[in-house]
Amino acid sequence: MFQHIEAFAGDPILTLNEQFAADPRADKINLSIGVYLNDEQRIPLMGAVAAAEVRLAQSINPHPYLPMAGLPAYREQSRRLVFGEGQGERIATIQTLGGSGALKVGADFLKAWFPQARVWVSDPTWDNHKGIFGGAGFEVGTYPYYSPATHGVAFDAMLAALRALPAGDIIVLHACCHNPTGADLSQQQWRELALVVQERDLLPFFDIAYQGFGEGIVEDAFAIRYFAEQNIPLLVASSYSKNFAIYGERCGALHVTGKDADEAQKIFGQLQSAVRKNYSSPPAYGGRVIATVLEDQQLRAQWEAELTAMRVRMKQIRSELYAQLKAQLPGGDFEYLRIQQGMFSFTGLPVAQIRKLRDAHGVYLIESGRVCLAALSSAGVAPVARAVVQVMTE
Ligand code: LMR
Repeated sequence: MFQHIEAFAGDPILTLNEQFAADPRADKINLSIGVYLNDEQRIPLMGAVAAAEVRLAQSINPHPYLPMAGLPAYREQSRRLVFGEGQGERIATIQTLGGSGALKVGADFLKAWFPQARVWVSDPTWDNHKGIFGGAGFEVGTYPYYSPATHGVAFDAMLAALRALPAGDIIVLHACCHNPTGADLSQQQWRELALVVQERDLLPFFDIAYQGFGEGIVEDAFAIRYFAEQNIPLLVASSYSKNFAIYGERCGALHVTGKDADEAQKIFGQLQSAVRKNYSSPPAYGGRVIATVLEDQQLRAQWEAELTAMRVRMKQIRSELYAQLKAQLPGGDFEYLRIQQGMFSFTGLPVAQIRKLRDAHGVYLIESGRVCLAALSSAGVAPVARAVVQVMTE
């Protein structure tokens, strides 16, 4: 029966992470998967999250199904975090299984109602974008995004490609902390892009998985809020995995803006239909934790302060690594560490060097050359810098 089934080639991120776990070397360093680790090399349990969990544990309750759309308080808080105050009545928001679940439900919704559209993702992008949209039945193409020469966004090429798309096509945009490059548009560039989206009647689908990791909660949501203010119809997949360090609880949200409350209600109904066909309703625990934090003034302030500390640490690690690399290889181009932001940077190292880093030095990066700086401790900076310089100069 199953003889024709082919072996799974593995996932470039998750399979490598499993390979790292199985690596017996004591001094191995995992800079592959997008997970924030503190300086002790552990996923932090944020104080605000722990406090919310203690509160929840004080009342032991049964475990009913959540509604298809998830917890109302979670949905409300999630919308506010992404869009700010106002406009609520024209935004349909549902709780999802992480950012991936939001992308999947959004993709199914779009395929049902825009069956002819094609989906365009940045080149490069998070690998799973192609998997999720392709899996939902879309033809997926790419638009130029990254300039290795400047380590920034190839904005003119990006705009030119988007200008050439047919009306109604869907473009996937990273709202902040682009994965995998860490190269983001400036606010002025977002404004220019909004004009093109309006002129060409494109449908933007924002992915915001790192809100608060770039410049701040409000700053990182700039593009989404600006596009929404311009009344551009849009979708957003948001995730709490990283900014609440609540990876395994699978907490995300999908937002779709309608033109008014009536349209938003219809969209909301269709999103629930898409959820029902995927997993019926989301899990409750993580959603309750997040709603508890975001609804409580004191816990929310604590969470924001902890998130700020994580962001500051990532920036600090970037400058420490930059300084060490520059000191050891003054002619090397390590500007990417200073220009790019968020968890990731794009090293531009060829695959052969990435493999050597892994095999000879126990330093794991994914083969695209993406490095997760959020997983590097200050003690790890020196060995990583030494290993990188060694593979670059051998
Ligand atoms: C990543 O990009 O490493 C993370 O978002 C984890 C994942 O699911 O790929």
